[in-house]
Formats: sequence, structure tokens, C-alpha cells
Amino acid sequence: MERPAWAPRSIDISVPSVSRMYDYYLGGSHNFEVDREAARRAMEFMPGLPKIMQANRAFMRRAVRYAAGQGITQFLDIGSGIPTFGNVHEVAQAASPGARVMYVDHDPVAVAHSQAVLEGNADAGIVAADLRKPQDVLSSVELERLIDLNQPVALLLVAILHFVEDEDDPYGAVAELGEALAPGSLLVLTHASYEGIPLPQERAGGAVSVYEDIRSPLIMRSREEIARFFEGYDMVEPGLVAMPCWRPDTAPEDEDPYAFSGFAGVGRTA
Ligand SMILES: C[S@@+](CC[C@H](N)C(=O)[O-])C[C@H]1O[C@@H](n2cnc3c(N)ncnc32)[C@H](O)[C@@H]1O
Repeated sequence: MERPAWAPRSIDISVPSVSRMYDYYLGGSHNFEVDREAARRAMEFMPGLPKIMQANRAFMRRAVRYAAGQGITQFLDIGSGIPTFGNVHEVAQAASPGARVMYVDHDPVAVAHSQAVLEGNADAGIVAADLRKPQDVLSSVELERLIDLNQPVALLLVAILHFVEDEDDPYGAVAELGEALAPGSLLVLTHASYEGIPLPQERAGGAVSVYEDIRSPLIMRSREEIARFFEGYDMVEPGLVAMPCWRPDTAPEDEDPYAFSGFAGVGRTA
């Protein structure tokens, strides 16, 4: 297969990547046939997967606007993905000119494409790092350049924590990042769950097993387990809710039933 210019040499393009599958669900063009094939298999079980991803992006944009409205001018987006329509830096810098955005991802295509998109934007950057090693993020040169940890930051962990298995201590990683944040910072998070999916669990489980097959297990957590990520934060109203119900711009009743899968929330450090 011919390797497109945006695909770094280091990647194995015979193995699906969750980042490129997500790009495919959202209608992007930075994916290969292996990614599309795996995504289509998951969609055989859950045809509404793209609706979930769209609801996730819409929540993320509302949360960034909310943060900007609260006076936050620094954004740390971990698991930022392959840039697509309405990225954090676009929304944040439109709402608050000069806002600084640091993206982090461990997927080489997400990193390479972000570098291309951000060229010439002095207020945004991308670092290749792993959420499971928070110190790599916190001690990076790019973070020092873009983010002043003495001032409030919006930390985005949007649709990433469900890729971190319990044995890799996702709660410890979130706590370590939280400890580095100044008072008044926000934690913005979404997470997959069987709760809210408009399908019997065994059917939704078929889609989850596709991720297991490609060795990027999707960890479905309960609302209670997801709420634990916010320990020590004050929840911003309306709390941890289905994505369309978090400070909606349009009536949640008009949303597709799949959009109510999983949870979204924003917490504020005291
Ligand atoms: C579903 S995408 C979400 C993208 C974006 N946050 C959004 O919600 O639109 C998940 C991203 O998290 C990244 N990711 C998964 N595990 C990660 C880890 N341990 N460290 C850094 N990035 C990770 C993947 O590479 C992928 O790009």
C-alpha cells in the first residue's frame, strides 16, 4: 500500500489505530482500510457510533467555550486525536484570542497531522506523550513554553480515559495531573459506558470486543466509576450527565438516542 505524506514512517499501517478509527467515524480522511474495516465491524453492532462521536465533539466545544467564558486562557488537551473540524485551539482562540493550547497524544498520525495544522500558530503546540506517564507531559519543554501552571488551566481528557486499563492506574494519572493544576482550573472529561446506550449490553459488547481484537481495549466504566475521576473537584452544574444534557445549545430531546451513551462532566479545583 502506498504511504500518504501524512503517515509517519514509524507506524505499522497494517494494525488499526483508535485515533484513525475515530477520524473515520467523524468523516475524516486520515485513516486506512484496516481502520475503516475495524470501525465498520464495530458499527455492525452499534450503527450509531458516529452519533456518539459527534455528541462528544459537540460537548467538548461547549466545554471549551464555557472555560473561556470563565476567564481560562490555557488548555491542556490530552488524547487530542487527529485534528478535525472544530478543534480545541480554534474554539478557544475564537472565544479568547491569544488563548494557549497544548495538545498531547501518543498516536504518531495524530501528532504529525497536528504539527502540520498548527504550523505558524505560536500559541498552540503538540507533544507526543502518554497519559499513563503524567510526568512526561508535565515536564515537557512544550508545556513550559505554552502553559503557566501557576494560572488556571482547562485540562481536557475527552474520550481518552476509556482506553486506559485499571492496571495502568488511570485514577492515579488523573490525580497526578490534578495536583499540578492551580486553583480555579477545570477538568473536562467524557467517558464511554454501557449506561445510556440504546441497545442491550450484549449487543453493545460486540462493538467493545472489536477494540479488544485490535488490542486497544475499550474500558466501559459505570457512572459511579467515572465520577471517581472527579474526586477533589467541585462539579460544575449540571454535574456528570449524558453528553447532550451538559449545558446544551439545542434541546437534548432532538438528539439521536445514541448521543446519550456514556458521560460528560466538568469539575473545578478548589
Ligand atoms: C477517541 S480519540 C479522542 C480525540 C479527542 N479528544 C476528541 O474527543 O475528539 C482518543 C485519542 O486518545 C489517544 N490516546 C489513547 N490512549 C492514550 C494515552 N495513553 N496517551 C495519550 N494519548 C492516548 C488516541 O491516540 C486517540 O487519538
